[in-house]
Amino acid sequence: MKLRTIENLDVRGKYVLLRDDFNVQIVDGKITDAFRIEQSMPTIDFLRRAGARVVIVSHRGRPKGERNMDFSLQPIADYMNVKLIPDCLDKDFLADMRDGDVVLLENVRFYGADEKNDPAFSADLARGYDLFVNDAFAVSHRAHASTVGVAEILPSYAGLLLASEIENLSQVMENPKRPLLSIVAGSKVSTKIGVLKALAKLSDTLIIGGALGTTFNYAQGAKVGNSLFEADQKETALEILDFAKNNNCRVLLPLDKGVAKEFKADAVRVNKGFAEIEDDDVIIDAGLETTERDVAEIRKAETVIWNGTVGMAEWQPVWSYGSFALANAIAEQTRAGKLVSVIGGGDTVAALEACGVKGDITYVSTGGGAFLEFVEGRALPAIAILEDK
Ligand code: 3PG
Repeated sequence: MKLRTIENLDVRGKYVLLRDDFNVQIVDGKITDAFRIEQSMPTIDFLRRAGARVVIVSHRGRPKGERNMDFSLQPIADYMNVKLIPDCLDKDFLADMRDGDVVLLENVRFYGADEKNDPAFSADLARGYDLFVNDAFAVSHRAHASTVGVAEILPSYAGLLLASEIENLSQVMENPKRPLLSIVAGSKVSTKIGVLKALAKLSDTLIIGGALGTTFNYAQGAKVGNSLFEADQKETALEILDFAKNNNCRVLLPLDKGVAKEFKADAVRVNKGFAEIEDDDVIIDAGLETTERDVAEIRKAETVIWNGTVGMAEWQPVWSYGSFALANAIAEQTRAGKLVSVIGGGDTVAALEACGVKGDITYVSTGGGAFLEFVEGRALPAIAILEDK
């Protein structure tokens, strides 16, 4: 895929509307993970240095078209040390901007018309700008006014982060070093059918873990107690297993689990094989044997693609055991130059961060849903529109 990029663009004195994804978690006014913001900085700096007048537009959360200040971008403007323009349709401030200035518009989803990709709203948003740059890979699976609508109106280009995401993800999908091991976990089969099939087609081995794995265990007749899983996805799970078999992909399901009597961070952890699971047991993490097997698989692989934690990684240290063991093994092999590792998804990236190994991974994507759709091979609408045909 060849994209129109900003690299050779003359932007001096131009008003650039830059779409970033600053959908980050903020607790008590503080950003808990600035990864997406930090990854967006090279494009902002590039445009600033090239003399553009940069106006950043982003969403955060799902305020459903209401001006709900819980979703304000003010903490992000403070973090970046730039001015926040309280209304994303305001144009008055443009006249005061100088070359190299950067400002941030307030949450574009304060207008419901953004998510509806309303043409009149797109025209309002685009008015006053010379160019549109999309650097928001993580929201590029959404055909919204601020991702697609404005790109249909203004000359539009891919930012450096967007281009890097496409390059890195395409490389691992198109020409992976083998054996290729994919690890897919998380909670819902229903949201991961496409990606499971795509990875089954591509991978030599597929590990399915987390609550997702529990659904597969259940589909095969295992006892899963009072755990989170999807009984109604039994047929789908069996169909995916069949699909993987027909594509010569070895699937590894959980062998045992870390369970408790209550679903809470300080619950007492017991390791159980499926035969021992009682009706009131709740599965919260991968088991010891499963983890040992998965770590051994990581050590045999030359490429690992990972999305989804295999347990409640945020309940440290007891329930993060499985996810942290995978993160550490992947980081160790990558550091040793034996593994190409590509990881995406908010929870998974947070687990890497919590283990302090994010910097060791070959490529960490800023995308969650967008990462999954890209891996699935779907055309992301906000990227398709930037293709250099
Ligand atoms: C994300 O965090 O995955 C993106 O910012 C998209 O957010 P959305 O699912 O609310 O559209």
